[in-house]
Amino acid sequence: MPAVGLGTFGSDHVSASQVAEAVRGAAEVGYRHFDCASVYGNEAEVGAALESVIAGGVPRSELWITSKLWNDKHGEDDVIASCRQSLKDLRLNYLDLYLVHWPFPNFHAKGCDVTSRSADAKPYIHASYMKTWRSMEKLVEMGLVRHVGTSNMTIPKLKLLLEDARIKPAVNEMELHPHFQQPELFRFAQENGIQPVGYCPLGSPGRPERDRTPEDTAPTEDPVIVKIAERHGVHPAAVCIKWAVQRGQTPIPFSVNPRNYFANLQAAATDPLSEEEMRQIAALDRNCRLIKGQVFLWKEDQSWEALWDMNGEITPA
Ligand SMILES: NC(=O)c1ccc[n+]([C@@H]2O[C@H](COP(=O)([O-])OP(=O)(O)OC[C@H]3O[C@@H](n4cnc5c(N)ncnc54)[C@H](OP(=O)(O)O)[C@@H]3O)[C@@H](O)[C@H]2O)c1
Repeated sequence: MPAVGLGTFGSDHVSASQVAEAVRGAAEVGYRHFDCASVYGNEAEVGAALESVIAGGVPRSELWITSKLWNDKHGEDDVIASCRQSLKDLRLNYLDLYLVHWPFPNFHAKGCDVTSRSADAKPYIHASYMKTWRSMEKLVEMGLVRHVGTSNMTIPKLKLLLEDARIKPAVNEMELHPHFQQPELFRFAQENGIQPVGYCPLGSPGRPERDRTPEDTAPTEDPVIVKIAERHGVHPAAVCIKWAVQRGQTPIPFSVNPRNYFANLQAAATDPLSEEEMRQIAALDRNCRLIKGQVFLWKEDQSWEALWDMNGEITPA
């Protein structure tokens, strides 16, 4: 898996055509890894961009394309159909990685408010997740997908999956930035041969309004990160990317700005942080989760913490 990927979620305000243009431009400056998902609503446009990248001479085998199964498609037959739809939209005949986007099977309208609750929302039920996972494994057997993985999982959920999976998850995609380092889950993934892919690696400054709370902090404004950036003569975003790559996770920064997406790739490949700088950033963790997932809650009086198994056990139904 290439060490940095381009995120493609337009956060509800960047159009599909702008994202597709960024995919073309990013491939031109050297990106080979693209993090897609059906729910981002732009796979058809991204697919046209990927087709032109391949037609322009980049071999398919050099590309790493990820897509994700949305939450209302966890049913056994839906998994295969959804993957086929993503392949059709992305104009590919296989995916490098297919992820279960969230461990909760749940329909909610695109762009809905965080207070919105789905009538069919369910807690995590391992037996149901395993049915979905069996179909994910089938996709590998069918040759439609090279690797399967998870996203937004917790240690207790991953432990169960590792016990029962015939094909183990190759990746867990999770929120990771200097203010939310998830050290236990990060270590658990690494110890179990699961590559951590880090979303919101810059603290998602462009995230939708619904994903903002007054307690949120911005890693790119952290004085320690700003100081390290000044020392290296780069934007604080570049420091977040260097830290991510050197720590061993795969960041997938989003950008539609050519200067920014080039800088993010360059950050990963040049002028590494010193051990002392890595130690300083390790000390900045604030356990500040930005993507809290409120719309997945299955009871009225719950708080978002219930989704993340905070006491080390799967939150009971
Ligand atoms: N698995 C999941 O559940 C999940 C959840 C959330 C996100 N994701 C994935 O992770 C990707 C990244 O997360 P994200 O998009 O929320 O957040 P992010 O990558 O942390 O931040 C993106 C924002 O940072 C700005 N930016 C990028 N590079 C910059 C630079 N060098 N200097 C200054 N600003 C810069 C971008 O603006 P410009 O466009 O103007 O550069 C954009 O507003 C998503 O696109 C998606 O693919 C996955």
